[in-house]
Amino acid sequence: MRVRRCAVLWLEPKETARFELENLLAGGTGVASAMRWFAHAPQLDAPLSIEAADVELLGSLSPNDWVDAAPLRERHGARLRDLMKAGLVIGRGKAWDPQRLADERFREQHWFGPAALLHADSRWCGLDAAREVAEEGMDTAEGMRTRYGAPPSELHARAQAAQRLPLPAPDASPLEDLLDRRSTCRNFDASAFLPQAALAAVLARTFGARGNVHAADSFDVLKKTSPSGGALHPTEAYLIVQRVEGVAPGLYHYHAGDHALEALPSPEDLAAFARLAVAGQHWFSDAPVLVVLAPRFVRNFWKYRNHAKAYRVVILDVGHLSQTLYLTATELGLGAFITAAINETDIEQAFGLINCVDGPLAVCGFGARAERMATSEFDPNNKVWPRKSV
Ligand SMILES: Cc1cc2nc3c(=O)[nH]c(=O)nc-3n(C[C@H](O)[C@H](O)[C@H](O)COP(=O)(O)O)c2cc1C
Repeated sequence: MRVRRCAVLWLEPKETARFELENLLAGGTGVASAMRWFAHAPQLDAPLSIEAADVELLGSLSPNDWVDAAPLRERHGARLRDLMKAGLVIGRGKAWDPQRLADERFREQHWFGPAALLHADSRWCGLDAAREVAEEGMDTAEGMRTRYGAPPSELHARAQAAQRLPLPAPDASPLEDLLDRRSTCRNFDASAFLPQAALAAVLARTFGARGNVHAADSFDVLKKTSPSGGALHPTEAYLIVQRVEGVAPGLYHYHAGDHALEALPSPEDLAAFARLAVAGQHWFSDAPVLVVLAPRFVRNFWKYRNHAKAYRVVILDVGHLSQTLYLTATELGLGAFITAAINETDIEQAFGLINCVDGPLAVCGFGARAERMATSEFDPNNKVWPRKSV
């Protein structure tokens, strides 16, 4: 059989600490630390602890050229098999198809290696970040100030005040007013249903195709309201619909061309899934609709192949979409939010997405605001609170 290394690999020498009773009894702190090797490969679920001898084996294998496995087996024995099982060494035999296909699918996406590692390693699974932050007392400004000291200053100067060129204030305008009313909502009316027309308007204005240019054979380019790197618009909108008039609660994909919803299999406990998706942030999870922003990476990486800037561009695309969603929701008198504190792995599983193929990067949501503020919001100019009309 012939083997080669998986496409992208980072071998990390990492200090690990564990509790040791003997250490404590001998008068130590009870914490023993040791250096261990970890293998990070983006197509895997998680980094793997490996042996020091594996570093030599993995370092000797090309990610491109296939070589005979027999001499490696002779030299490294069962370790070769273990690394093949893990998907770090790829075998050509039928028995190794699952690992080989996962590696090939990853190669087809044309990731820049370090970006793929960052993306895969920063995914969460089953995390209640909201609870953890609260338990650490880091959910208030005072708590953060106590723990970290003062933050870097909110304004940045590069010249003395007298040397600055003063600029005129912008004229009053509907856009000016709309921008001032944009404010992250953490208090949704947990019983209000969103009119279907409002859902449709926000989706059409944020994610909908507004024009189509046939650029070349089998190469169409969509016009949308936000800019997108290479005009490729890789980001798909996946919906958790909880309370929308005329739309059954469940999971959906928004079809940007047809301006239509595609129903997907839904979890039994939709509210629990919504809360899991936003990592326990209950102030977001009761929005009537949550929108997962999940780029199809290869739509962008098809052009920007293995490109050092491409992942950054995709993330920036998502940021633009979020602001458009905020503004369209605000214009309709609705509250909106974005969060990147999300359980990507759980979202992937629920929507049938594949790690490094389609990647949830953020979750937005929108809907009617509650009448009373239970979770704090940032509205220093009282553009939103106290609620004037609901
Ligand atoms: C990329 C991004 C991620 C954010 N993540 C969270 C989050 O996890 N939880 C949260 O409550 N707010 C989150 N926010 C909202 C910010 O806290 C909010 O924008 C900030 O407090 C300023 O308030 P404003 O949006 O009302 O002006 C996020 C905002 C952005 C742009």
